[in-house]
Amino acid sequence: MDPRPIGVFDSGLGGLTAVRQLTAGMPDETIVYFGDTGRVPYGSRSRETIRRYARQDAAFLLSQGVKMVIAACGTVSSVAADLGESLPVPFLGVLAPTAAAAAAATKTGRIGVIGTTATIRSGSYRRALSAIDPALEVFDRDCPLFVPLVENGFLGEDDPIPLLTAERYLAPLKEAGVDTLILGCTHYPLLEPVIRRVMGEGVALVDSGRETALACRRFLLSHDLAAPPEHEGGRRFYVSDRTEGFAGIAQILLGENLDGQVEHIDIESY
Ligand code: DGL
Repeated sequence: MDPRPIGVFDSGLGGLTAVRQLTAGMPDETIVYFGDTGRVPYGSRSRETIRRYARQDAAFLLSQGVKMVIAACGTVSSVAADLGESLPVPFLGVLAPTAAAAAAATKTGRIGVIGTTATIRSGSYRRALSAIDPALEVFDRDCPLFVPLVENGFLGEDDPIPLLTAERYLAPLKEAGVDTLILGCTHYPLLEPVIRRVMGEGVALVDSGRETALACRRFLLSHDLAAPPEHEGGRRFYVSDRTEGFAGIAQILLGENLDGQVEHIDIESY
């Protein structure tokens, strides 16, 4: 048993969708969340920059005494998958649990992957899926407009803006006849109704935040690192940009109002 917090970071606030899943599945745990709102987006940056940012994000979480670090960010998990090698605590990215869930879900072996440009360009999901089963066929596509749509609250399945964007991005995957689609970015679960409408009910949507929260729970239980049952869980939120304006997006991504509960830190000093 280990009462120390779980550290979660993301390039911004998308990782709050994973925090939502972690809290639902493990209410006894304390979570320290860092959103790098001052340097988001990572998805359009170079590999070197993303890796440097990820090291600093993890260093901040370690300074908070966490027992595990989770990169709730498709981009970091793809481009800095080896981050755990330099950390003194276990590290979990979204890539491995999400690829495993998609490989288990597909019946036809045709899997679609959507994510940021950096995630898709890295080929990480192609490699992870092929390592699980070389016969799997992978069709991928970056969707750079999805993150700003989510952050600006364009989510409704009847709203023509997200609907037209999703139709444009997803058309090749639909034509390829995928039966499983990986939502390879932590913002994308918010667009699930739109994506489902475009892809159709027959396509299984795999939420990377949800799969990572489930994998975290399995890991903590199997390594005797879960918080003791009587432990009162809690959450602390940190960002690298102004804290004003956080509440509105947090309401969208976490489903809660976090007004006044967020602290600013200087991430460049880590
Ligand atoms: N959090 C990023 C991801 O999951 C999306 C936002 C960004 O580009 O930084 O890939």
